Amino acid sequence: MNILLTGGAGYIGSHTVIALSEAGHTPVIYDNFCNSNKSVVERLEKIIGKPVAMVEGDIRDTPLLTKTLQNHEINAVIHFAGLKAVGESSIIPLEYYSSNVYGTLCLLEAMNQARVKNLVFSSSATVYGDPQYLPLDEQHPLSATNPYGRTKLHIEEILKDLKASDSEWNVLCLRYFNPVGAHVSGLIGEDPNGVPNNLLPFIAQVAAGKLAKLKIFGNDYSTPDGTGVRDYIHVMDLAEGHLAALSYLEGLSDWTAINLGTGQGYSVLEMIKAYEMASRIEIPFEFTLRRPGDIAACYASVEKAKSDLGWVAKRGLEDICVSSYKWQTYRSSIA
Ligand code: NAD
Ligand code: UD1
Repeated sequence: MNILLTGGAGYIGSHTVIALSEAGHTPVIYDNFCNSNKSVVERLEKIIGKPVAMVEGDIRDTPLLTKTLQNHEINAVIHFAGLKAVGESSIIPLEYYSSNVYGTLCLLEAMNQARVKNLVFSSSATVYGDPQYLPLDEQHPLSATNPYGRTKLHIEEILKDLKASDSEWNVLCLRYFNPVGAHVSGLIGEDPNGVPNNLLPFIAQVAAGKLAKLKIFGNDYSTPDGTGVRDYIHVMDLAEGHLAALSYLEGLSDWTAINLGTGQGYSVLEMIKAYEMASRIEIPFEFTLRRPGDIAACYASVEKAKSDLGWVAKRGLEDICVSSYKWQTYRSSIA
């Protein structure tokens, strides 16, 4: 199939390009490069060994999107594009609503015009808000604690209304837990601007000597070692989840949301230890105050992914940390 990946040059999109290509699909990247680098396309071509189609554009440019869908005879869209920094979303909320919510409306309009009605949407475990129980299954009540999370909730609702209005649409929302790690080649990976907000990229930069020490946000949570617990999923497992999602999409009778996680939670201290083993570098850290808005623990129920998609995450902490360190080393060498 010909698959359009909005935001396909970004962290998760670029890894999904590889999984799609390896499975015999033809990926087409559509990205405005506001949070990625054009050189990712060359690096993808090196990994895949063939050219990768790329269109530079904004998802709010409906005419360009419509033309792209038609020119490339697209069968389905995976919609990754959007802004994703939780803290920033409270500072510039309108940009988040514009890029994420309005951008999605423009994409849906273009898809309607081009008569492409198969869509996989990048949602997030953030739509569950503060967990009322664990593991988080898809029936857990939804809420948002910041503008970023609210954009994801709004988009899920818009897609639900769309499916209810027109049964020709096939719509699947994938709720990602914490994507981490990199492709085994070490040529692509997560490349945050400035000081990383998220744990693994921060640890990676400490290991590479770019940052001096990790601050652990709280050691008084009601978790086994007092530090926050999350469901870290290897980005290539996540990428392969999208392959399963595309097969499942066809003829989907209802709007559907499915968790993509591992079902297993690890603490901050466990992640540091795993990274030290993989990189053979000590990660200095200190305990500081809790980060406002953080939750103690969050991990997925993976039953629905298993039963409906026939997909489970295969890679473990070692694969995550080794690939992350390999990418970080390469990234530092080209900086
Ligand atoms: P990313 O920032 O690396 O990738 C997003 C890509 O979209 C970038 O290449 C960016 O240039 C592009 N983009 C942004 N706005 C655009 C616009 N208006 N028009 C065209 N392109 C645009 O992010 P990612 O980590 O790959 O995340 C992909 C998706 O998954 C996002 O929707 C994100 O909210 C969601 N998600 C990510 C995580 C995570 O931890 N990485 C967790 C849950 C959900
Ligand atoms: C982040 C997002 C969340 C998103 C999720 C998925 C924030 C506030 N939340 O949350 O919306 O759905 O990623 O990827 O950005 N930690 C430290 N020191 C650090 C960084 C993190 O101790 O420098 C701790 C955190 O307190 C947490 C754990 O590490 O316990 C993971 O943090 P992070 O990687 O930011 O992910 P989430 O908190 O799940």
